[in-house]
Amino acid sequence: MAKDTTNQKLILQVLKGKKNLPPPIWLMRQAGRHLPEYMKLRSQTDNFLDLCYTPKFCIEATLQPIERYGFDAAILFSDILVIPNALGQHVDFVSGTGPILEPISNIKEISKLNIKSLSEKLHPIYNSVRQISTKLKNFPNNPALIGFAGAPWTVATYMVEGGSSKDYQKTKKWAYKSPNEFSLLIDLLIDATSEHLINQINSGAEIIQIFDSWAGVLSPFQFDRWVVNPTKKIIDYVKSACPDIPIIGFPRGAGLLYERFVDLTGVDGVSIDSTIPLSWVIEHIQKDIVIQGNLDNFSLMVGGNLMETEISEILSFFSERPFIFNLGHGILPSTPISNVEKLVKLVRSKKND
Ligand code: CP3
Repeated sequence: MAKDTTNQKLILQVLKGKKNLPPPIWLMRQAGRHLPEYMKLRSQTDNFLDLCYTPKFCIEATLQPIERYGFDAAILFSDILVIPNALGQHVDFVSGTGPILEPISNIKEISKLNIKSLSEKLHPIYNSVRQISTKLKNFPNNPALIGFAGAPWTVATYMVEGGSSKDYQKTKKWAYKSPNEFSLLIDLLIDATSEHLINQINSGAEIIQIFDSWAGVLSPFQFDRWVVNPTKKIIDYVKSACPDIPIIGFPRGAGLLYERFVDLTGVDGVSIDSTIPLSWVIEHIQKDIVIQGNLDNFSLMVGGNLMETEISEILSFFSERPFIFNLGHGILPSTPISNVEKLVKLVRSKKND
């Protein structure tokens, strides 16, 4: 798939013209529970979704990691589960348990979901995006603003299982046994996700990341139908409304299928999880695709020599290609602040030979 100006825009926007300098850095789930200032904010409300829907909180949580670490990009403080919530499914976040949803198990329940008022329901989020975009201009390094959504497959697993799951039994059974029926849910999520992403871009998001956290639980036979095709459709919709927007895909756990994902979806960048050998990435992922990743989040949590060695390996492997330093998955809540500070310092001190 030809990648030309769009991809340069990604590089331009993310690097903000910092070619030949150290790679830009931000971390997945950088806003959240490893930060004491987030925990303080969090204690002001029982309901996590209230944080997401209240611009004052959302703006503050988004900017906290930028203020503390000076990252090159801010990711909107929100969640992938605002989509089921906006479609009318009951979503709750129970501390210690994670998300709890009223599970969907048949077509009748799919048909009760309603996309009509999605933009209106999520309006407070777009209001926050607008204000964050303005506030970011006051930071000396002018960080990019990343908007995001979950990919349909991953969001569907939460909707069908009723929360987090170990084996995705109900979702996989439904998808494998009655694909045409399950497609009704995926198609609805394609439309809802595209609308949500376009709204974020129109409000000031400069880059989009699509999180497919559970892409890795599907066989190659099922991967195209539930991961590749829905992602491609979303990218087509979003790019037909906003042609210049750079999009990063994150099919976590996709293994060898990362190559197929990149070749077929039209992403400009790909976030690589920590299980993928760096040499495999160099060999198999198209050269004009921006690579993001892939420090093990446990290495960051543990720190010390282990972390430092892995960071320098990653930096040297990707020194010849467009690269954004990140983790292979979200930052863990027990990660010491000092390890993140050290990481930023090491990445920033990278010399370009
Ligand atoms: O990256 C950021 O800092 C931006 C905010 C963000 C959150 N969730 C905030 C959040 C992002 C990008 C997400 C994405 C998300 N949410 C994913 C995809 C990425 C991944 O980690 O795989 C998924 C699968 C979810 C669903 C979700 N949200 C779960 C399973 C949970 C509970 C467990 C957990 O990780 O905390 C959440 C809650 C959540 N989302 C919190 C935060 C800060 C913690 C809520 C709290 O403070 O009580």
